Amino acid sequence: MSYPYQITSFEQYQADYQKSVEDPEGFWGNVAENFEWRKKWDKVLEWNFTEPRIEWFKGAKLNITENCIDRHLSTMADKPAIIWEPNNPEERVRVVTYQRLHKRVCQVAQMLTNNGVKKGDRVCIYMGMVPELAYAVLGCARIGAIHSVVFGGFSAQSIADRLYDAQAAFIITCDGAYRGDKVIPLKSVIDDALIGNRTIKKVIVYTRTRTPVSMIKGRDIWWEDEMEHAEHQIEKDGKVSFPAAEMDAEDPLFILYTSGSTGKPKGVVHSTAGYMLWTNYTFVNVFQYKPGDIHFCTADIGWITGHSYIVYGPLSAGATSLMFEGIPTWPDAGRFWDIVEKHKVNCLYTAPTAIRSLMSFGTNPIQGKDLSSLKVIGTVGEPINEEAWHWYDENIGKKRCPIVDTWWQTETGACLISNLAGVTPAIPSWASLPMPGVQPILVDENGNENTTADEHGIIKGNLCIKAPWPGILRTTYGDHERCRTNYFDTYPGLYFTGDGALKDAKGNYRITGRVDDVLNISGHRIGTAEVENAINMHSGVVESAVVGYPHDIKGQGIYAFVIYNGHHNEESLTRQDINLTVSKIIGPIAKPDKIQFVTGLPKTRSGKIMRRILRKIAEGETVNLGDTTTLLDPAVVEEIKNGRV
Ligand code: WTA
Repeated sequence: MSYPYQITSFEQYQADYQKSVEDPEGFWGNVAENFEWRKKWDKVLEWNFTEPRIEWFKGAKLNITENCIDRHLSTMADKPAIIWEPNNPEERVRVVTYQRLHKRVCQVAQMLTNNGVKKGDRVCIYMGMVPELAYAVLGCARIGAIHSVVFGGFSAQSIADRLYDAQAAFIITCDGAYRGDKVIPLKSVIDDALIGNRTIKKVIVYTRTRTPVSMIKGRDIWWEDEMEHAEHQIEKDGKVSFPAAEMDAEDPLFILYTSGSTGKPKGVVHSTAGYMLWTNYTFVNVFQYKPGDIHFCTADIGWITGHSYIVYGPLSAGATSLMFEGIPTWPDAGRFWDIVEKHKVNCLYTAPTAIRSLMSFGTNPIQGKDLSSLKVIGTVGEPINEEAWHWYDENIGKKRCPIVDTWWQTETGACLISNLAGVTPAIPSWASLPMPGVQPILVDENGNENTTADEHGIIKGNLCIKAPWPGILRTTYGDHERCRTNYFDTYPGLYFTGDGALKDAKGNYRITGRVDDVLNISGHRIGTAEVENAINMHSGVVESAVVGYPHDIKGQGIYAFVIYNGHHNEESLTRQDINLTVSKIIGPIAKPDKIQFVTGLPKTRSGKIMRRILRKIAEGETVNLGDTTTLLDPAVVEEIKNGRV
């Protein structure tokens, strides 16, 4: 496969950027010519950010799986599409060629159809990182069902909320998932999530860990049995086929839930054609993918990074995507480097939190590992501190691999701001330049563009985007108004990212972190309100306030101030009880790192918690807390300061 739209020089980047902004329809219309369409579009772009309404390639018909699989079969049927590295390095690697992937995806499509799944139905997928997860996602897309993958670390309650919000009728899960030396009993979590559920008709269970499961008659069925049955149906005259559903460009492809500043996660909806173009275009350009390269994105498919850079981006580009079931520190902290050596990985894409965690083991786990196959290394999910950037550069990239620092969000579908490997300059801890089609703007509290630079030529502000790129979210599931108020209302006419940023005189951006009440814990987004709601569910808790604080490995840690009035006052046990409550309500990823018991919270006379003060205390600041005179009870601040944990 060739990529005529791959940018190969800085001058070309500048020219393409210019074109994409001056004539977005001409620019993206050209890029779109490189995909398979059942019918071409009537109009490349129609939009307004007021409703918001964003339509790319209106009138076009396609199926994304034909772009990710079928179109590659004539030239690269035997090329690996997915290389699967199991949790346990002793277990056999699985290499899934495009031919095999085609068959498996057709089988899943047939299996889903046999079980009554139709175009537009919502299918929840709660699985570990096995190839079957990729088959499940693509099988849904083949028949036009909307997949909603839920990360394996979310609790039964979180799944139940998502099932309800999406009105999902089907679930695909595993008996269990391996994570290092642990087995996570996924099906049993699903069973808990389904207590009282009225919408789910079928649960398909793939066997991975042989963890005992309860299978409810009429509802729960085995993946293996269903797939075997489907296999006979899709094979005719020695050929495999399952006709892909014809989808509109703007038909929803998937829902992915993510946290915002309100208490409830929202279902971000991505479209078919725009998302496909955007993941493909950014994959090919940011990583400078060359046919034959092996791309290793270490994310879980339960997050947007896995959707875009394990599944849709690489496969639509006919690439080889390495999928890893395990964790970076098991059996030891050399696991990533073993994988790079074993599979001759060319591009490694991971999170700053993983880099910092591996850094803490020193360089011994890297000794003797052959990392010479690496050409490009990348990061995503949170700001990367300079120390981690240099460690990555020196020890992993050996100063010969460009580092791409890719800034983006669940809502943006794929990268918006990033250097292009080896083509545009890499600057430590700066995401750098916008992708073609992306028009960032920094605004003040009132939405006015900030244009005044400080003495170093740096402009600060809240990061917004002026116009739509193909991969922008289209709505939040079941509640379009929520999409409007969350992203398009703070600064009318602009998409607001929720992030703060700096811009230098050359137009490079540095992302400084969230400016709303969203935390970024090990690259995972969690709303403070969500964690507070969960803590407040504990019977002894009167009230709580949650803020983030700098954490060496996780980037940010969760600090909870809790007013407790329970029956026993043994603090350590109460802390464990609160942690367990949060695990049950959200999942272990949202457990507070620190819990401080307080008798009151700093509130204004109107009853608003002054988080600014709590944030400073959590960060260790005890002197300059700013103005506290508007507080109802300034004395409480002294108490909180003295009781810091
Ligand atoms: C943060 C992950 C700095 C940011 C793809 C954003 C980053 C949030 C970077 C989205 C980066 C992501 N530098 N910050 N390179 N990448 N972020 O939705 O705060 O899980 O708003 O998407 O992660 O997180 P999400």
